Parts: sequence; C-alpha cells; structure tokens
Amino acid sequence: MLLQLNNLVFFLTMPSAIVAKLWPALMVLFLVVCCAGVSNGGVTSHYVRKPEASVCMPKAAFPPPQGFNAPEQVHITQGDHVGRSMIISWVTPMEKYPNTVTYWAEGKGKDKHKKHSSIKFYRYFNYTSGYIHHATIKRLEYNTRYFYELGNGKATRQFFFTTPPKVGPDVPYTFGIIGDMGQTYDSNQTFEHYMSNTKAQAVLYVGDLSYADDHPYHDNVRWDTWARFVEKSNAYQPWFWTVGNHELDLAPEIGENKPFKPYTHRYHVPYRASKSTSPLWYSIKRASAYIICLSSYSAYGKYTAQYNWLKQEFPKVNRAETPWLIVLLHSPMYNSNNYHYMEGESMRVMFESWFVENKVDLVLSGHVHAYERSERISNVKYNITDRLCTPVKNPSAPIYITIGDGGNMEGLADRFTEPQPSYSAFREASFGHAILEIKNRTHAYYAWNRNQDNEAVMADSLWLYNRYWYPQEEHSSA
Ligand SMILES: *[C@@H]1O[C@H](CO)[C@@H](O)[C@H](O)[C@H]1NC(C)=O
Ligand SMILES: *[C@@H]1O[C@H](CO)[C@@H](O)[C@H](O)[C@H]1NC(C)=O
Ligand SMILES: *[C@@H]1O[C@H](CO)[C@@H](O)[C@H](O)[C@H]1NC(C)=O
Ligand SMILES: *[C@@H]1O[C@H](CO)[C@@H](O)[C@H](O)[C@H]1NC(C)=O
Repeated sequence: MLLQLNNLVFFLTMPSAIVAKLWPALMVLFLVVCCAGVSNGGVTSHYVRKPEASVCMPKAAFPPPQGFNAPEQVHITQGDHVGRSMIISWVTPMEKYPNTVTYWAEGKGKDKHKKHSSIKFYRYFNYTSGYIHHATIKRLEYNTRYFYELGNGKATRQFFFTTPPKVGPDVPYTFGIIGDMGQTYDSNQTFEHYMSNTKAQAVLYVGDLSYADDHPYHDNVRWDTWARFVEKSNAYQPWFWTVGNHELDLAPEIGENKPFKPYTHRYHVPYRASKSTSPLWYSIKRASAYIICLSSYSAYGKYTAQYNWLKQEFPKVNRAETPWLIVLLHSPMYNSNNYHYMEGESMRVMFESWFVENKVDLVLSGHVHAYERSERISNVKYNITDRLCTPVKNPSAPIYITIGDGGNMEGLADRFTEPQPSYSAFREASFGHAILEIKNRTHAYYAWNRNQDNEAVMADSLWLYNRYWYPQEEHSSA
C-alpha cells in the first residue's frame, strides 16, 4: 500500500508529457490504491454449488408449433409509457400473411379488434430469419385480461395477458428479475423456477438473451429457439428488455458489422414514448415503478444521445406518482467478482452521481454470472486531485444488484475478490432469479432464489425501503 502510494507520488511529480503518456497506467494504479484498503464487510455465502458444465439444450427441444406457417416465438412487452398499450411480436416461418392480431377483453368476445403488424426479416451471414411481426395494440383498459389470437385455420394460436393497474403511488406490483439466461439445462431450471412463482406479473430482464453468438457463425437459429423456449411466459406477460454484450452480434470476419442487428429486428420496445432516439435506452412506468433501461454498449459519455436523454429523464420522474425508481443496465458498477471486474467503471463515473442525487432505489445488472447485492453506498466524491474514491455508506444511494446468473453456457463466475469489500452485502456463485414485490410507496420485498432450492426458500432477501418516501436503513433477513 505504502509502496503504491510512493509510486503514485512519483508519477504525479513527473513532467506532464510523460504523465499524459502513462495516464492509463496511472489511472489503474490510482484505482488499485484507492480500492485496496476497504475492509471486509458483507457475507460471502457458504453455499457452494456443485461445479457442473452448463450444457445447451438441443435445438430439437424447441420445435416450431404444429400447423403450416404457425405463428411462433410469441412475445409481448409494454407498448407505451404508462401501460395502456402492448407490443405483440411473433414470427411466421413460411409466409408473411396473415399479419393480424385479433384481441378482445375478457368477457367481451363479441367485441373483437384487429391490428396489423409491421413485417420485417433480416439476413445474418448465411441465416435468413422468418417473417418477424410487431403489432402495437393501444387504448387498452387498465387491470383487464385480454385474449389475443394469431395465425389462421388449424394453425391459430390463442394467448392472454393482463394489463397493469393505472399508474399510482401505492399500487402493488410484482416483478421477476432475470439476466444472462441463455438456453442451457440450467437456464431451464431458472426459467421453470421463475414460472412456478404465481405472483410475478412481468420480468425485468437485465440483458444477454439467447447467447446465439457463442455458437459458430452466431448461429441465429439459437435466437429462434430462445424465443420458443421463453414463449410460455413471454407470450403471457411482458418482459422489459435491456441490452447486453451478447446482443451486439458484431462479427466483421463474416461481414456482420451492424451492432444489435438480430436483437433490434426481433425485440421492439416503446422507446419513442420516453422521447428516446434509440431502442437501446428508454423508460416506462408500470404501477408504482418508474423503470429506466440503459445500454452499457452504446456511447454514454458527455454530449452523447444516451447521456443527454438520461439527463432529461430524471427530472421527469414524479415520485408522488411513481415512488419506485429502478435502473436496469447490463454491466454492473459495483462488482467484487474477478469476472468483468471494473467493466462498469466508466459508466459509474458518468452516471452514479445522478443516481444518488435522484435517489434511485435499485440498480439491476447482469453480465457477471453470479449473484451479488451491495450496501447503499456511493463513490461520488471521486476526485483525481484529492484521491477521495472510497465507496462510503450513503442513504440516498441505490442498492446495486448483480443477477447475471440465469444459467447460460459460459458457466458460473465463481472467483470473487478477497477480502469481500465493505460495499458488498451478499454474494454467491449460483444460478437463480429474484422477485421484487412492491407493496406500497414505502415498502417492497426483495428475494433472490437459487435454483437448487424450492421457490419458497429465499437465499437472500430483505425489505426495501423507498428512498424518497421512507429512507430508513434496511436490514437483510437472510
Ligand atoms: C452456414 O455456414 C456454416 C459454415 O459453412 C454451415 O455449417 C451451416 O450449415 C450453414 N447454414 C446454413 C443455413 O446454410
Ligand atoms: C425443462 O424443465 C421442465 C421442468 O422440469 C421439463 O419438463 C423439460 O423437459 C425441461 N426441458 C428440457 C429440454 O430438458
Ligand atoms: C478535488 O479536491 C480538491 C481537494 O479537496 C479540491 O480543492 C478541488 O476543488 C476538487 N476538485 C473538484 C473538481 O471538485
Ligand atoms: C406498506 O406496506 C408495508 C408492508 O406490507 C406495511 O407494513 C405498511 O404498513 C404499509 N404502509 C401503509 C401506509 O399502508
């Protein structure tokens, strides 16, 4: 430690031209010095998952549905800012038409509505997608079950969803939280486990969906099988998407230079409703929550579109209307795992002070294939001159949750840095998912479940207190 500090002083007294050249090294050293002294704080779970390879389920496990040109890969997400619209998406493998969704409110089957989809497809290396349909159905009633039908003749398929209650400060709502799922037998366990929870009404998905890019030539059939895999939840409840690095699908060696090509064709989000200029960052309101989804893999430096958008976004959040402010982003800002260590640092430097000033309740991330929950801490005094860069307890700061433990084929990130830094409250290298039950403007119950346990067993849980309405200190009950 002392030696490092001496080195730092040495660097700082060197001529500025040399310092400029050595700047990247200096930054790393500086951060090492600043972050080394943090004392041991939270819990590293003693639960050790049996090390097993995460094996992909075969493509044949997800055959297309029966019937000629049967609609498949059906998925829904919110279609506007407040929850009165739904984007219905599906794929027809052989023919473009029919491209209509027929829908009606429960008990009003005589009053059917139709909406046409926009149709697109894409090529990726030697893969050609089916016809991808997106239809936004609007002016839905709140808190109402709707049925919808796709396809025709023998290939007709019917689904349903429930619209959320009208946005309001004490409206209870339950979200599932899943990340980095992929399509292995472990992913299946995570998914089935989540499905067995009957309370969850929508999924906050923190990025990395299909892991098609881990297959030769980014085998895009894996995008199809993934959408078939999650259909039995995603056709019935909205999943809110955040992009991860596995959505980039950049492969210049096979002529694929357009980032996010498969993802943006397949998954639509209501980004225009929040005045965003890109589907990669946007916000929605649902019940008593205001949810902001950011892109770790798009520019976020000063003056960039994402930066400008986020800056204008925070003043729009009215905590008297939506008390719970939740941010989703893929690459975690606080991560004490050796995997992806400090990859989220540059975004933290840009955005953390806004999170604290605006009393964000929760920041949810994936990327690291393990689970970790932070204390309410901030590191916003960071200053190159006075070297203040130790995370400190801060009641206005969010809790950071890393939940990239959906079960993908890359396996677990099972090497944590030691000692556990004081900002880390709980960490464990197991696959799982979480549930966030918002009760009212002050209280929400949060619980993480590992796949090895029954859904009723919570490996990590606590009552969250809203930062705006009830900024008390929380105590984990695990
Ligand atoms: C795409 O090319 C790869 C490598 O040549 C080959 O293995 C695969 O079968 C091809 N797929 C299609 C759909 O032609
Ligand atoms: C996924 O899990 C469910 C429930 O345990 C099981 O019925 C199904 O066969 C599994 N899928 C595969 C491909 O193993
Ligand atoms: C950084 O810290 C030094 C020492 O406390 C202070 O004088 C300076 O104003 C700070 N710089 C900024 C940009 O806040
Ligand atoms: C909010 O919910 C919590 C947990 O259910 C409960 O203890 C509390 O009394 C509720 N607050 C109000 C004002 O109802």
